Amino acid sequence: MSQLQGEIISVGAPSSNLGDYVETYDNFSWEDVEKQFSWYETGKVNLAYEAIDRHVDAGKGDQIALRFNDPTRDETYTFGDLQAKSNQFANVLRSRGISKGDRVFVFMPRSPELYVSILAIIKVGAVVGPLFEAFMETAVKDRLEDSGAVALVTTTALLPRVKRKELPLLQHLFLVGKDIVPEKGVVDYYKEMELASPEAEIEWVNREDGLILHYTSGSTGKPKGVYHVHNAMLQHYYTGKVVLDLKEGDVYWCTADPGWVTGTSYGIFAPWLHGVTNVVRGGRFSPGDWYETIQKNKVSVWYSAPTAFRMFMGAGEDIVKQYDLSTLRHILSVGEPLNPEVVRWGYKVYGHRIHDTWWMTETGGQLICNYPSMPIKPGSMGKPVPGIHAAIIDDNGKVLPPHRMGNLAIRTPWPSMMRLIWNNAPKYEEYFRIPGWYISGDTAYMDEDGYFWFQGRIDDVINSSGERVGPFEVESKLVEHPAVAEAGVIGKPDPTRGEIIKAFISLREGFAPSEELKAEISRFVKEGLSAHAAPREIEFKDRLPKTRSGKIMRRVLKAWELNLPAGDLSTIED
Ligand code: PRX
Repeated sequence: MSQLQGEIISVGAPSSNLGDYVETYDNFSWEDVEKQFSWYETGKVNLAYEAIDRHVDAGKGDQIALRFNDPTRDETYTFGDLQAKSNQFANVLRSRGISKGDRVFVFMPRSPELYVSILAIIKVGAVVGPLFEAFMETAVKDRLEDSGAVALVTTTALLPRVKRKELPLLQHLFLVGKDIVPEKGVVDYYKEMELASPEAEIEWVNREDGLILHYTSGSTGKPKGVYHVHNAMLQHYYTGKVVLDLKEGDVYWCTADPGWVTGTSYGIFAPWLHGVTNVVRGGRFSPGDWYETIQKNKVSVWYSAPTAFRMFMGAGEDIVKQYDLSTLRHILSVGEPLNPEVVRWGYKVYGHRIHDTWWMTETGGQLICNYPSMPIKPGSMGKPVPGIHAAIIDDNGKVLPPHRMGNLAIRTPWPSMMRLIWNNAPKYEEYFRIPGWYISGDTAYMDEDGYFWFQGRIDDVINSSGERVGPFEVESKLVEHPAVAEAGVIGKPDPTRGEIIKAFISLREGFAPSEELKAEISRFVKEGLSAHAAPREIEFKDRLPKTRSGKIMRRVLKAWELNLPAGDLSTIED
């Protein structure tokens, strides 16, 4: 990567909220950021108030907050509308006894109802747990069970994936759909919304009270519940200002689903804390539909992901010319390494630099970024944002000099740092095992100018199209299939998706390898867990490499796949 370091794109920078690029931020203080919030004066904290009601109280109730498009709906909501609707649903929630600290999950495709529900859950002081719409039975059950969720907002179409009988704590189902059959514990969303008052008291909370629980994958064990608190709004607001560069009058589009952290921190909180118009597009990716979304809504700030940009690149320049994208001012990316050629292509074709940003579910907000006021080096994640101190450290906590690869670590704390892993203190502590630092699990190096360069993951976590997949979760599902004796899962490099999921499988007695069996096994994971976790490639092996304690050695599988030396095999079974 070092030959790229001379390459800097610095022309064409949009006007920036951070002013001119400066090397140090000695004057930065989070207290200055706090002053942006009404609670700095009133002492009354709730993120939903700051995101919606505050704008109405400031006389901006008629401004457009949400523009929703999907193949079947095209709707616009003002801040006043969202205030009224979230109040109504807050009243519905309260009528069923939902209150501060309860975990309430949302499981539905992107729709205005999803955004209203999330706001309302936060308004009553409950902790919102977003579930990605593609999750199937096992994925849904694991998360509801671990969190002890008392309520779920879902649609009639997704309801069959919720195994209510196995979830004794789940007392209330709020169902969005038609022809809902009355039943104990089931609430008809539309019917009750009609009857509910559009006025509601907001539950004032403490800055350290629970806001959101996002489940994410590690390399071992089931997904972990990453718990964030209202205080995270400082990071959302501040990065919304200096990284997203949001300004009055912007039309902003974040392409992520709220089932993932980008879709909440930057698909809900940051834009609405800034009072800008937030575009939400449902449905699947298609280059034409996405360009059309920019044109139709006059999007000015666009936050997407490398996989999407690679697919746009694959779709070519001609299609770009069919749309008017002239309203765009600023483009950003997150989730996986952003290839330098994609940055160059974007600059040529869109006339804008694509700004990479690095962060994680656990960090709650952007930490290392190419913010608009700085020259960018294609291929680098950028520099720590003001208020954040990042470094490359070795396993003993020693800070390494430039160009040495090591653990990407962040000085603790920062406002949006996770506060808990739900029900799993040991897991939480692993991240903070070196005093004073959060260890990200990513490896990187820093160059002589303080730019950070992503190198990889330390663990086996797979990043497929920007979605984090835990190999253990996929392996556990695979071995539930009657034909599968053992399974080991790795990420295989892929030019479009970053990585795809590849499973190595040994079969049980009586089963013979075949293409049909591969397809069936893949479908089994897709239908039991979720589409994004299903292996795109399966290879049958007579036996899998294991340690003497019986653990499948994914490292060896990866070496087989990439034709690399397998490294230290001293712990292998035989
Ligand atoms: O490995 C890094 C990769 O995605 C991981 C975090 O995944 P998740 O919690 O799902 O959050 C994704 C969006 C915030 C990181 O540990 N990652 C994220 N951003 C980048 C990245 N890898 C390279 N470059 C990035 N900009």
